[in-house]
Amino acid sequence: MCGIIGYIGPKKASNILIDGLLALEYRGYDSAGIATIENNEIKIMKDKGRVKNILNLEGYNELQGTYGIAHTRWATHGKPSKENSHPHFDNSNTFAVVHNGIIENYTELRNFLIEKDYTFYSQTDTEVIPNLIHYYYSNPNIDSNGENPDSSYDIVLDNNDSTKVNNTSRILVAITQATKNLKGSYAIEVISPLIPDTIIVSRKDSPLVIGTSNGENFIASDIPALLTYTRDFYLLDDNEFAVITKNSIEFYNEKLENHKKEIKNIEWDASAAEKNGFEDFMLKEIFEQPNSIRETIGSRLKLNEKCNFDDLEISSEYLKNINKIFIVACGTAMHAGLVGKNLFEKLCKIPTEVDIASEFRYRDPIIDEKTLCIYVSQSGETADTIAALKLAKSKGAKTLAISNVIGSSITREADYTIYTHAGPEIAVASTKAYTSQVTLFSILAIHFAELLGYDKGDITINSNGETITLEDFKKDILDLPKKVSIILEDTSLIKKFADEAYNEKDMFFLGRGIDQTVALEGSLKLKEITYIHSDAYASGELKHGPIALIENGIHVISILTDESLLKKSISNIQEVITRGAKTMIVTNQNLENNNFDFVINIPETSPLISPILSVIPLQLLAYYISKNKGLDVDKPRNLAKSVTVE
Ligand code: G6P
Repeated sequence: MCGIIGYIGPKKASNILIDGLLALEYRGYDSAGIATIENNEIKIMKDKGRVKNILNLEGYNELQGTYGIAHTRWATHGKPSKENSHPHFDNSNTFAVVHNGIIENYTELRNFLIEKDYTFYSQTDTEVIPNLIHYYYSNPNIDSNGENPDSSYDIVLDNNDSTKVNNTSRILVAITQATKNLKGSYAIEVISPLIPDTIIVSRKDSPLVIGTSNGENFIASDIPALLTYTRDFYLLDDNEFAVITKNSIEFYNEKLENHKKEIKNIEWDASAAEKNGFEDFMLKEIFEQPNSIRETIGSRLKLNEKCNFDDLEISSEYLKNINKIFIVACGTAMHAGLVGKNLFEKLCKIPTEVDIASEFRYRDPIIDEKTLCIYVSQSGETADTIAALKLAKSKGAKTLAISNVIGSSITREADYTIYTHAGPEIAVASTKAYTSQVTLFSILAIHFAELLGYDKGDITINSNGETITLEDFKKDILDLPKKVSIILEDTSLIKKFADEAYNEKDMFFLGRGIDQTVALEGSLKLKEITYIHSDAYASGELKHGPIALIENGIHVISILTDESLLKKSISNIQEVITRGAKTMIVTNQNLENNNFDFVINIPETSPLISPILSVIPLQLLAYYISKNKGLDVDKPRNLAKSVTVE
């Protein structure tokens, strides 16, 4: 995971680097560090803990350098400590490097370098990178295969200073040689006093973007971190290198051939990434949902019109030919996929499987050109999801990415991309991304139904065989923002339950059918930000084991939105009440005259999309419990928002 930032321009770099790191802290916050170059000397400030700790380090205020690199860490190799913090140096203190990713063969490389008399001062995988660069820099006659280098490298640098050009070319060659040895993933930034006023970057399977403006350039792991500075971006590709000065950016492929790259202009509101008076990003994002859902619907859905998917070139011929859809994702995005499955099966009659990306990759899934594989990722950078997409592509399937981040890695790998347009989601625990993903799935399912010619008949919505018309379903989707606002108007009962339950050690979430998918998401939210252990179960499965855990006073949360399953679900809740459970029910049904402790009423909608409403009280419950416990809601321990390691 980890986030990296870089700046080169006329201004003092340290402030901009810190600013960028704060915006990237969602990617990890075990340690942070920055490096700038002043008077031909690398100055490094780094420490364990949050980015703000750097501000208190001795010498921070005196930093004057106008270019530098920076890093915020989510520890993988080596515990969070000052020694393991980035930037890392080579032994001669010539190269400073920050790295996001994992070098899988670092033990091998470390042993190789130790044999060559290099010493290691950290437990990280990263420290091999500056030392390898130093090794190839000091041994220009050796290439990554241990042979003489190919002398045909065609390096053309836009610079008039010949010593610097020579050094830059030599260092660029050394960096390419070093990266050829790296197995795994990396986005790296390198600075050295040998090449003043220059930053060299490269990436493979970890994100890196370069923002450009008049006389200054920026580097970051994601676009939102730089939106206050620029809207113009270059999206670096795998195995691509860039040599960056304040006035120029030169791009090279792995053979070091120079090439031009297109600038992408990003229309995104930077203020959307601020708290706007809310105590935490998560609360702000929960309350943004009426609007984010509205943005997702955008101009795609209108009554009495066919859906608008001009940006998705999937034809009815192609769709008629496919025999299966896979939805693959991680975490909350996978839970959105579970709702998507129901939608595709009900509206389009296409068998749909949902899989966790890290499992899908290794289980040899049955995929061919008749399979459509849909990948859902808020960040678009989740390593397992991207790898799962590449697998399907290699088997000839078409791939569709659903992401929230324009230009993210997954969108560049997929055959087709559609965006959720939920706006930046900063809190680690995902909220508005989920409701937008489910909203988009519902509109996409209608679009597919239209392409397949299933839009004439009614849609079966529950196990009683009840149906609604497609127009009514569209109306239900269009009404969602208003109904979410109604839920958010009064959160007092949820707060009350949170006040009562926040000291618990265990909780259970129950639901049947579509409500079970929401139980899974509610349970995940609770675990992520309150550290309370919780389990989600299909209500009917309770009696096959978990009911043994129900004892006096345990808190059980049930979701009840599908009328056809109401009686059975109520019986299951009674079974836990009999055994002493305290219950909170989230429902759109009339449940008067029952012995439940808390009933949270939500507006009615079709069960196909009820998760968009029933999840809101569960998001709020996790939030209020976390607040009651005095925890950091936005940055829960051990987690990161963007999981760029496998
Ligand atoms: C992490 C985040 C979750 C998120 C999951 C998938 O675990 O903490 O909130 O659901 O990654 O992320 P993605 O960006 O692929 O949706």
